[in-house]
Amino acid sequence: MSDPQDDQQVGVGLIGHGTVGQGVARLLHEHRSQYARLLGRVPVVKRVLVRDPAKHGDAVHVDPSTLTADSAAFLDTPGLQIVVEVAGGRGPVGEIVRASLRRGLPVITANKSLLAAEGESLFALARDSDACIGFEASCAGGLPVVTAIQFGLKAGRIAGLYGILNGTCNYILTGMSQRGDAYADCLAQAQAAGYAEADPTLDISGRDAAEKLAILATLAFGVRVDVESVACEGISDLALEDIRFGSAMGYDVKLLAVAERQGGADGSGSLALSVRPCFVSKQDPLANVHGSFNALVVDSGAVGPTMYIGRGAGQLPTAGAVVSDLLNVVSGWYGRAFAAQTSWPDQVPRAETASMDEVRSRYYLRLSARDVPGVFAHISALLGDAGISLGALRQYEVAEGQFVPVVIVTHAAREGDLRQALQAIAALDVTAGTPVCLRIMEAVGYVEDRRNLSRSPMPKS
Ligand SMILES: NC(=O)c1ccc[n+]([C@@H]2O[C@H](COP(=O)([O-])OP(=O)(O)OC[C@H]3O[C@@H](n4cnc5c(N)ncnc54)[C@H](OP(=O)(O)O)[C@@H]3O)[C@@H](O)[C@H]2O)c1
Repeated sequence: MSDPQDDQQVGVGLIGHGTVGQGVARLLHEHRSQYARLLGRVPVVKRVLVRDPAKHGDAVHVDPSTLTADSAAFLDTPGLQIVVEVAGGRGPVGEIVRASLRRGLPVITANKSLLAAEGESLFALARDSDACIGFEASCAGGLPVVTAIQFGLKAGRIAGLYGILNGTCNYILTGMSQRGDAYADCLAQAQAAGYAEADPTLDISGRDAAEKLAILATLAFGVRVDVESVACEGISDLALEDIRFGSAMGYDVKLLAVAERQGGADGSGSLALSVRPCFVSKQDPLANVHGSFNALVVDSGAVGPTMYIGRGAGQLPTAGAVVSDLLNVVSGWYGRAFAAQTSWPDQVPRAETASMDEVRSRYYLRLSARDVPGVFAHISALLGDAGISLGALRQYEVAEGQFVPVVIVTHAAREGDLRQALQAIAALDVTAGTPVCLRIMEAVGYVEDRRNLSRSPMPKS
């Protein structure tokens, strides 16, 4: 396709020419005829802002003369109509995003950290400036979950959402579960395969998934969710032993991000928000989401549960989400919808968050108990006193009188009651160490009687 006339072009400014930025440039170049057919106009990269243009002399899909490290020159680019931010971080990048919005330029971003921390003021600025923000790529890479929640599932009330929102952790947990490899080995493999950063803290601590959950929960529940209100636990302390014991009982481990309503007969109620390793049944579709794939289940009142599975990161999946946003902005509908909707983070009240103590679920427990008569009676009495009944109990054999691993699966229990009972159990002189407690997340899709709250992880109020 020959170069389109100026009046058929939409001028794009790209901030960042790394993994995602190069993917965006590639898609805009390789699919320009398709986009022209779709829109009657062609998005063309007019300027690329990077930290060090000298590093990008071998750029393939952008003209090297368009590279600059000068943000003022970037913003003054003639014909600039849309800004795509795929640089990451806050500080200076946040400033360029703000400056773009102040000029009324629509911004497409993949930057969950910026949105999770500064979304409220950025959305306010976008609306005040008659601009808009497209952010599909910021949550779960290529999965169109922002669009699904914000535009596809509006008819009913969303009761909850949960899923695998970090591909790095999923890759590591898949290696630990399927091959029985140690955590450190699986992390090294993820780094060698390019799925984990040299400093993986953001991913393995659960923080990255918590940032995505905060953005998605804000959209889903119409309340502003702070990332700090997500109870966050990473995967580095997960023992292979628990993965093995869980597997023998029919469960796979996943790092799940969960947002669910608690109580509130009028449909309001507070939100319980967590990112932590959980067990899911091997029959659950989530158990078959392996490696770097992501998945999200949204339980919406009218439609029922829907599930989205796909590549949550990587060059083309993420760039694909960015370019879809870009095309939606160019076509005009997204800007109109952005202006018309009144549920953006700056327009909704702050979320009331519930303590994890209020969550009702089944749990996997592992205790270390001395192999002496009467010990099980003691443990089940303490659990029973807290109103917790046992679904399954297994003791693993060792020499008589020593501490043995005891694995228990509870029936649905209030987490706060369970934690109290576990404290009492840990204080017994026939137990050692801190008991392990992992939530067992049940698939909403399998709940035949959706009024049966004891079996549903998403209590309907
Ligand atoms: N990679 C993925 O699979 C993925 C998936 C989902 C979301 N994201 C998000 O997408 C964004 C980009 O990720 P990435 O993996 O493409 O990062 P990356 O490979 O590290 O590339 C970052 C690019 O941004 C430029 N940059 C960074 N800070 C800048 C600044 N202050 N001013 C101007 N340019 C700056 C860098 O310039 P230099 O090259 O000159 O240093 C580089 O070209 C991040 O927000 C990330 O969270 C990525």
